[in-house]
Amino acid sequence: MNFHYYHKPVLVKESIENLITDQNGIYIDATFGGGGHSNAILKKLNKKGILIALDQDKESIERNTIQDKRFRIFHNNFIHIRDILNQNCIEKVSGILVDLGISSLQIDNPKRGFSNRFNCILDMRMNQESFYSAQNVLNECSKKELFHIFYEYGEFKNARKITDKILKKRLKKNIKTTSDLVHIFFIKGSFKKRKRFFSRLFQSIRIEVNNEINVLKNFLLESSRILLPGGRISVISYHSIEDRIIKYFFKKGIIINKINFKTLPFRMIHKKVIKPSFKEIINNPRSRSAKLRIAEKI
Ligand SMILES: C[S@@+](CC[C@H](N)C(=O)[O-])C[C@H]1O[C@@H](n2cnc3c(N)ncnc32)[C@H](O)[C@@H]1O
Repeated sequence: MNFHYYHKPVLVKESIENLITDQNGIYIDATFGGGGHSNAILKKLNKKGILIALDQDKESIERNTIQDKRFRIFHNNFIHIRDILNQNCIEKVSGILVDLGISSLQIDNPKRGFSNRFNCILDMRMNQESFYSAQNVLNECSKKELFHIFYEYGEFKNARKITDKILKKRLKKNIKTTSDLVHIFFIKGSFKKRKRFFSRLFQSIRIEVNNEINVLKNFLLESSRILLPGGRISVISYHSIEDRIIKYFFKKGIIINKINFKTLPFRMIHKKVIKPSFKEIINNPRSRSAKLRIAEKI
């Protein structure tokens, strides 16, 4: 399998064509993955342009095949973008691309624990050097913490029931594998209903393992500091919790529970959210929940 092309990048044209305002500028691909967006950005840049790419997953960095003088790649969490820029003697950038969530390289890897399709150790760490995995979440989080995870990140109305089932199970035996987790629940109804339940359950745990919501909020704040005036940020998200945060920040300058700006740092480039076309969804069903928002630093 050619891993370089294995992850099909989503909304490439839409996210890049409105991002590049200066072809000689410095750009960031905060979520390199399989490199699809990085390749597209490099195609648009002139000789003097620079692209800094990051991914917190070592495997994504190791699989990089881009060899280009204008390209630098780092194994890091995008929350540390300012440190990376400092190390490269860069103060401000012309554009940032963020394609949130996980790649096909991660979800289709039977050893990473991101999917209920494979029986394996409950891991779900995007960064393999982190010490907090899905096993820690399921076996060590308090009742209140588990409820928060399932209610807020899984948007489950019956979060209390799910929490109680997990607590009951772990009293008898540690929850170690994806099939230990799946077998706690008996979901009545269609295959579609079952699939939806488990993808939300797995997603909520993954969000907690990788601290995705806090990292996103902090990164959005940071982006308003490192973008040049007129510089742009394209963010692709895959669930409503993230999209809500992005929308409120771009529209109202509000990062929930954090800082409210007195003057707005961004203006939206498009009033409406951009979604994949029917053709893209047919070609790449994993793009179906994608939402793209693009904003410009004022
Ligand atoms: C949807 S994929 C990106 C796919 C990529 N745009 C492409 O064209 O192949 C998301 C990637 O972002 C990485 N990622 C997610 N959160 C991150 C974070 N906070 N810091 C760095 N990388 C992150 C994941 O490890 C994953 O490889």
